[in-house]
Amino acid sequence: MRIILIGADGQLGSDLAKVIASRELISLTEGDLDIANRDLTLKVIKKHSPDVVINTAAYNDVDGCEDNEVRSFEVNSLGAKNVALACKDCGAAMVHFSTDYIFDGKKREPYLESDTPNPLSTYGFSKRAGEFYVQTVLASERYFLIRTSGLFGIAGCKGKGRNNFVEAMLNLAEKKKGEIKVINDQILSPTYTVDLARKVKELISADQEEPGKYGLYHISNNGQCSWFEFARKIFELSGRKVNLKPITTEEFGARAERPKYSVLRNYRLGEQGNDDLRPWSEALEAYLEERNEEGVSRV
Ligand SMILES: NC(=O)c1ccc[n+]([C@@H]2O[C@H](COP(=O)([O-])OP(=O)(O)OC[C@H]3O[C@@H](n4cnc5c(N)ncnc54)[C@H](OP(=O)(O)O)[C@@H]3O)[C@@H](O)[C@H]2O)c1
Repeated sequence: MRIILIGADGQLGSDLAKVIASRELISLTEGDLDIANRDLTLKVIKKHSPDVVINTAAYNDVDGCEDNEVRSFEVNSLGAKNVALACKDCGAAMVHFSTDYIFDGKKREPYLESDTPNPLSTYGFSKRAGEFYVQTVLASERYFLIRTSGLFGIAGCKGKGRNNFVEAMLNLAEKKKGEIKVINDQILSPTYTVDLARKVKELISADQEEPGKYGLYHISNNGQCSWFEFARKIFELSGRKVNLKPITTEEFGARAERPKYSVLRNYRLGEQGNDDLRPWSEALEAYLEERNEEGVSRV
């Protein structure tokens, strides 16, 4: 199976490349292909005649999107459309990623795939528009549209300066004197990119035999926590003693509005007897072990 991986040097892309590890994997970075460029996207994808195209590319600096609205729609919406058109053109299945930030958080219980999106931020709107394009262009074709949340992976999020929440907290523990203030009124399901990558591999491997499995999925590690609770677990598991203080979203004062509750329930995987994602705290332990083994040090 020939697979194109777009955004191969990103946080999720790096783990997908490791997990898929096939000789038939074609890894593309932004230097090879800017998905906002329609003609180039059609040309590059067609040239490789792939069976599957995995698109992890996104403009995902959530606050930055507020100041760069045009670029966020060019990449997150039109970019997704361009990849979908290219997949349709060459008959490839598409895997595309979206976010918990397409919800407004008012439900206060885990979101299912059937719940109605209502984004609050430019990032959320642009990702929702990307979903719409994928679902419309490929309506009668093969696609996996995967919503996930709070990613942490060894490569770090490229769009956030090779950072993720775990690394940001460990960095603060090392450098900051005094209190570390973390938001306690936004609840999510943190997700380890290795676990997500493994599930994507399973889905695309089942692809040929089970066509009924295409469509929209929520895939995150199980359980839920606030960013504050996530931080507390990071410090506990890594043995850091810090003065951690819970604060509100309003006290933190970020540029973009975020949902207060954006836990995703892996409902569709569950229906298929396939929701075996471990709890986020176990995934975090595995991440910290991987970090030690790889000798990662960003602090
Ligand atoms: N990070 C999270 O917490 C989170 C949460 C929910 C959903 N998601 C979604 O999960 C997916 C993967 O996120 P991630 O954390 O792996 O992000 P990431 O580390 O920033 O990776 C994104 C990759 O896309 C590339 N890229 C950006 N613009 C591009 C363009 N126009 N054309 C081609 N490549 C482009 C980036 O390269 P350059 O840096 O060189 O531009 C980078 O390699 C995204 O769809 C994101 O929206 C992420």
